[in-house]
Amino acid sequence: MLRIRVGDFKLGKKEENIIKHVLDIGRLSEGVKVREFEEKWAEFIGTKYCVVVNSGTSALIAGLHALKYLFKIKDKAKVITSPLTFIATVNAIVTSGLQPLFADVDRETFVIKPEDIERIARKEDEAAIILPVHLMGYPADMARINEIAKRYNLLVMEDAAQAHGTFYKNKKLGTYSVLACFSFYIAHNVQAGEMGAVVTDNYEVYKLIKKIKAHGRMCDCPVCTRSEGKCPRLNAYKGEEDFDPRFYHDIVGFNFKAMEFQAALGLVQLENVENILEKRKANVAYLNQGLMPFSNILQLPKYSQDISYLAYPLVIKDPGVISRRVLRQKLEESGIETRPLFGCIPTQQPAYAYLKEKYKGKLPNAEYIGANGFYIGCHQYLKKSDLDFIISIFHKIFKGIK
Ligand SMILES: Cc1ncc(COP(=O)(O)O)c(C=O)c1O
Repeated sequence: MLRIRVGDFKLGKKEENIIKHVLDIGRLSEGVKVREFEEKWAEFIGTKYCVVVNSGTSALIAGLHALKYLFKIKDKAKVITSPLTFIATVNAIVTSGLQPLFADVDRETFVIKPEDIERIARKEDEAAIILPVHLMGYPADMARINEIAKRYNLLVMEDAAQAHGTFYKNKKLGTYSVLACFSFYIAHNVQAGEMGAVVTDNYEVYKLIKKIKAHGRMCDCPVCTRSEGKCPRLNAYKGEEDFDPRFYHDIVGFNFKAMEFQAALGLVQLENVENILEKRKANVAYLNQGLMPFSNILQLPKYSQDISYLAYPLVIKDPGVISRRVLRQKLEESGIETRPLFGCIPTQQPAYAYLKEKYKGKLPNAEYIGANGFYIGCHQYLKKSDLDFIISIFHKIFKGIK
């Protein structure tokens, strides 16, 4: 039986009440709760606008399409990104008709290395976008990334799916690029089952994302007022009889709309977000202290008050001492759930096998962490006794191999 999960979600009275409230209102597709979440998330991150979508993957796809459309980026243009990420980052690039170019990551913080981005940007004239991923909550070096972007005339968008509220130079991640994407998938700091969001300060981007997520239709009111006879676009096309802006599509789009339930659950989480972030930080600090005796075997997560931790990442320093497979198996048998640190996408994920030859040996850090890194939970529901239990299990496993 698993006792320590990678993430957890407890449905309490507040969640029950808000779901009941949504049912009482009787509107399931997006409406007031989604709008409220958008306002509060933009305020929490510190951007002017936020658009909720049905997943973090949809946020990435909508974001990439918006950049393609607004900045006239051609199909097959290149996106410089991290090879060490959840597969959705790269799937979004490819399914948006673009091509990934991978720069290596930092061994300790797992984020893309600016010097590697620059090496690629210097020789690649088809690059259009830099897409850093703030993995496990660690911030990519946005100051240097933005300098490089300026020098080589590239756009920047952030994959901040795993970094809800991380501070970087006194501002939160998500405020350092044209647009940033978040995921509220289960186990993230703020979770809603499935949901995502795009944040931006750019009004054009905001309007376009709203359109892209809703079939490219021309409506853009926060909440539809048509039934009250107040639609501002009712007479937008004079001479066109029976014009209905909900069914008038001026660009090609998707259906990435979310449900009221998801936003409602997200709102309950958001009320408590500061406690969630603090609890996770305290858990990371406590585990680091308890696991310090094994810091010759395991790379423990770098700690900073500024980071909002998705989980507790560990990297095996010498797989000859203990392999990831054996260690994960022992942890799972003891009731501690684990996940691999995603793998190096071009060389370790079968879906991208066509890139293997090109990248084999060229991304040493991503390949090492992809093969030897994993994470366990540090979530807010863990009690001191759970943390002590985790530490005791590591002691048991490493007895004799210190
Ligand atoms: C870095 C990263 N990007 C994108 C996503 C995709 O988000 P979703 O699962 O909500 O589609 C995730 C999901 O965890 C993620 O970790």
